[in-house]
Amino acid sequence: MRYGYFDNEKHEYVIEKVDTPMSWTNYIGTENMVGVFNQTAGGYLFYKSAEHHRITRFRGNAVPADRPGHYVYLRDDETGHYWTISWQPTAKPVECYKARHGLSYSVYSCEYSGIYAEQTLFIPRGADVELWDVKIENRSGRPRRISVFSYAELSWHQIDGDNKNFQCTLYCAGASYSDGVIEQELHYEENGYQFFTADFEPDGFEIERERFTGVWQNENNPEALEKGELEGRTSWQGGNQCAALHKKLSIPEGKEIRLCFMLGEGNRKAALAIRAKFAHAHARDEALAALAAYWREKQSHLRVNTPNAAMNNMLNTWTLYQSEINVKFSRFASFIETGGRTGLGYRDTSQDAMCVVHSNPRKCRERLIQLLKALVSKGYGLHLFDPELFEEKKETGYKNPTIGVVPDKKSMIHGVEDACSDDALWLVSSIAEYIRETGDAGFAKMVLPYADAEAEPDSVYEHCKKILNFSQRMTGSHGVCQGLRADWNDCLNLGGGESAMVSYLFLWALDNFIKLAQFLGKTKDADAYKAIHKKTAKVCHDTLWDGKWYLRGFTKTGRPIGTDADAEGKVHLESNTWAVIAGGDGPERGMRAMDSVEEYLGTPYGLMLNAPAYTVIDDDVGFVTRVYPGLKENGAIFSHPNPWAWIAECILGRGDRAMDLYNRLCPASWNDKCEVRKAEPYSTCQFITGKNHPAFGEAHHPFMTGSGGWSYFAAVQYILGIRPDFDKLIVDPCIPAEWDGFNAVRCFRGGEYRITVLNPKHISKGVAEILVNGKKCDIIPVINKGQICHVEVTLG
Ligand code: GLC
Repeated sequence: MRYGYFDNEKHEYVIEKVDTPMSWTNYIGTENMVGVFNQTAGGYLFYKSAEHHRITRFRGNAVPADRPGHYVYLRDDETGHYWTISWQPTAKPVECYKARHGLSYSVYSCEYSGIYAEQTLFIPRGADVELWDVKIENRSGRPRRISVFSYAELSWHQIDGDNKNFQCTLYCAGASYSDGVIEQELHYEENGYQFFTADFEPDGFEIERERFTGVWQNENNPEALEKGELEGRTSWQGGNQCAALHKKLSIPEGKEIRLCFMLGEGNRKAALAIRAKFAHAHARDEALAALAAYWREKQSHLRVNTPNAAMNNMLNTWTLYQSEINVKFSRFASFIETGGRTGLGYRDTSQDAMCVVHSNPRKCRERLIQLLKALVSKGYGLHLFDPELFEEKKETGYKNPTIGVVPDKKSMIHGVEDACSDDALWLVSSIAEYIRETGDAGFAKMVLPYADAEAEPDSVYEHCKKILNFSQRMTGSHGVCQGLRADWNDCLNLGGGESAMVSYLFLWALDNFIKLAQFLGKTKDADAYKAIHKKTAKVCHDTLWDGKWYLRGFTKTGRPIGTDADAEGKVHLESNTWAVIAGGDGPERGMRAMDSVEEYLGTPYGLMLNAPAYTVIDDDVGFVTRVYPGLKENGAIFSHPNPWAWIAECILGRGDRAMDLYNRLCPASWNDKCEVRKAEPYSTCQFITGKNHPAFGEAHHPFMTGSGGWSYFAAVQYILGIRPDFDKLIVDPCIPAEWDGFNAVRCFRGGEYRITVLNPKHISKGVAEILVNGKKCDIIPVINKGQICHVEVTLG
C-alpha cells in the first residue's frame, strides 16, 4: 500500500493519505531557528538548541505521536463547525487532506466544507522567524464567513525544567498582548522573549493555554473554537503560554485570501520589524524561492543520471537532504530525541562530517573543529559533548543560579573507562576527506586546543597522530584493538576484550593518514605509520579469520565471538565489511566473507547486523544480548553498516551485488509497501526490524542515523565511483553489468566535471580509458575555478 509519491520536479514528497502508519517527519530551518514537524503539523521549534532554547512544546512518546503542533483552525461562522488545515488535531475525514514535505518546508492542505486551504511552514534564510503562510479559497459556490485561528503551545527555553520542574516553570514566565503581537516573556532570564504575530489586525487573541483549550478539553476540541471568539487577557504572569490569534473573514465565492502568522525570536520590537518585512505575500514568496535556491545550489554539486530512477531520486535529493540534516541536527532533534540530549556524539558527527563536504564544506569544517576541540590529549574523543562548552564564552550579565546551570567543563571530560574504541578513529578519515575535497592543506596545520585545557594546543595533524597512537596503545592480548566501553556497536561492550571491527577501522584510518602525510610531504611520518599498518594488518590476518568469515572479536575473558561455533551471533556485519574495506587481506577471503554475510544476514530489506539474534543474556558480550531479538543492534537490519557492505562489494568488483543491496535498503523501493515499512519512504531509518521479530520489515527512527551519510558516500564514491583525491578526481565505478553506463555532473574545487561513463562490454568494474576534453589521460586533473571539462570513462 502506498501513502504518497515523489514529485521529482518540485523535490517534494506528496502524502496523499495523511493517516500514515507512523508519524512521517520533516525538518525545517537552515540556520539558527529550526524545527521538526510531521505530516499533521505536529512538532516543535527551537533556536539553536532543542534542549536549552525551546520555543514550542512537544509531548514525547505520547499518543497520538504528534502533539501538539503549529495549528491553523478554520471555523464556519454560520454553523460553528471547525477543522484544522493539517488534518490533526481535529481529524475530519482524512480524504480531504494532503501534505507535502519539501526541502526545509512543509505544506499542509485540505478541501473541506467547500473551502480549500493551505498552510506552509518554513523559516526564511537570514531571519529568526517561522512563517505560517496560509491560503484560503472559497470553492463552495456561495459567500462564506470563515474564522481563522492559530494555536501553538509555547515552552520554557530549558526543556528539562519545562518537562519536570512545574513548581518553577508555572510561575516564572508570562505573556502580554499589544500592537497585534503576543510577547512571551521568560521572566527568569535576561532578555528571554518569543513573539507571535500576524500580517493582519487580529479580531481576538489568547495568551493562556487553558483559556484556549478549556481545562478539561484539548487541542482536538478547544473551547475557544466552540465559542468562536478569543477573549484573552492582555497580560498574564505565570501559567502556560500559548500563541492564538483570531481573524474573521468574509470570503466571496471563488476568492482566495492569503495571510500569515509569524513565530519568532525576540520581543515585541523584533516582532514589529519582522512583521514589516514579511507582511507582503511577495516577500514570503521570495523567501520561499530563496530557500529553494539554497537547496538547488547544494544539489548542483553533484547530479547523477543513472538507469536506476530511485537511486537518481535519492542521491540527487533525499539522501543528500538527509545527510545535510545529520550534519546540522546531529541526533539531537527528532520525535525520538525531543531535546533531552543536546550535543554531538563523537562517532556520529565524525562520520556525518565526512559525507557532504562537497555540498557543505563550511558546516563540515565547523564540525571537524568542534570534534578536534573535544579530543582528549590522550587520543580519545568525548563520547557525547556539547560543543558550546569548548568555545570561548563572552561573559553575559545575569546568571540564574538554578536554571540552565552550565556544567563545569572539567566534569565533562570523562576518563578512558568511558571512551569508545572507535569514536575518534572516524575523525582521521573525515579530516583526510575534507582535505581531499577542498584541497585545503592548511587545515592540517591549524592549531587547536585539546579538551583537557592543561594540554598544549597542537595542529590538526598532530591531533590525528594522537588518535592513531591511542588505538595502537590500546590493544589486547591478541594485539587486536580493545573494545572498551563500546565500539561502533553501542551494545557490544567488550571492555578490555578486543574488537576486530576497530582494528580494521584503525587500518583504514592509518591508510588515510599515510596518504595525507604523503600529500603534506611528511615522508618520515608516512613511513612510521606504514610500519604500524603492516604490523596491525598481520595481527588481523593471523588472528581474525574464522574459516568462512571474520570474527567479531574477543570478550574480556578471551572467548572469540562471531565464530561458526557460536549458536547465536555467529556472523556479524561490521567486522566482515570492514575487513574488506581495510583491504590487504586478499579478495579470496573477502568474497568468502561477503558470501557468508549474504547467506546468514541477507533479507529482502537489507542485511541484518548479526545472526542468529541473541536470546541468552551474556554480559560478557554486552547489552546487545539484553535487546529483544530482531530489534536494534540485536539482529535488526541496522541501516548504518549496510552501505559498508556496498563498499565492500564494490571493492571486490561485484557491482550487481552492490546494487542489489542498495536497492533493498533504498527507502523509495518500499514506497508501495508502506503497510510493511510503516516509516517514511523518503528517509533511511536507523533500523528495519529483523527476521527474528514478528514486525519483520518495519522501519524505525527516520533521518537521525548515520545511514543517511553513508548511503550517500557509498553509492556516490563506490558504486558510481566518483571520489575526490588530494590532487585529482577519481572516476572508478562498480556498477551492474547490464548498465550501458551513466552520466553525472560533479563540481570539484570550483570546476565542473561533466562525466559520462560508458560500459560497452557490460562489465562491472575496471577503467579501460579516460578521456578529458577528448584527450586520453591517466588521471582526471584538478581544473581551474569556473572551468568546465568533459570526462569520458570507458569500462573494459
Ligand atoms: C546509534 C548511535 C550510533 C551507533 C549505532 C549502533 O545509531 O547513534 O552512535 O554507532 O547506534 O550502536
